[in-house]
Amino acid sequence: MEAQSSIRFFEDCPLTRRDRIELVLGPTQKTLPLYQNHAQYDVVLLDGPHGYPFPDLEYYFIYPHIRKGGILILDDLAIPTIARLGDFLAEDDMFELMAVVDATGLFRRTEVETFSPYGDSWWTQKYNVRRTSRQQGAEKIPVEDQITKLGLNRKLFR
Ligand SMILES: C[S@@+](CC[C@H](N)C(=O)[O-])C[C@H]1O[C@@H](n2cnc3c(N)ncnc32)[C@H](O)[C@@H]1O
Repeated sequence: MEAQSSIRFFEDCPLTRRDRIELVLGPTQKTLPLYQNHAQYDVVLLDGPHGYPFPDLEYYFIYPHIRKGGILILDDLAIPTIARLGDFLAEDDMFELMAVVDATGLFRRTEVETFSPYGDSWWTQKYNVRRTSRQQGAEKIPVEDQITKLGLNRKLFR
């Protein structure tokens, strides 16, 4: 671990309660699928790897474990693929968009039953319902990419 490591900083921080924390080191692409010791989480922050589809992958392995009423924080919404995950969540029955602060989204887990991680039922998900023309007319809910429309990607223009 380098001297400037944020992991060392976190470990050495006097506020860090090592006795209350289980530290799992390694790429989440490897560690999350293998992790078995999940609790029902009050708060989850997704802010690790940003390339597509890694935040989506992390979401898949974490969402069944966010307790109803819990908070999902999704960082780096300026990255277009992460904004799309945000668009999905903003419309999904399982989440309510509470706020976007800079490029960070806060979503509250609703009381709705957990979407089965092992089934399919894509046609029941609002993001898909609203974007399939037959359903669109029936529901009359306008399609709006709530995060993408904020244009946060402008922050990243070089
Ligand atoms: C944008 S930083 C955010 C760190 C921390 N959440 C913060 O706000 O200070 C992203 C962090 O994720 C780490 N990271 C990158 N790819 C990762 C991966 N595949 N698995 C786990 N962590 C990863 C990076 O090393 C970096 O420390």
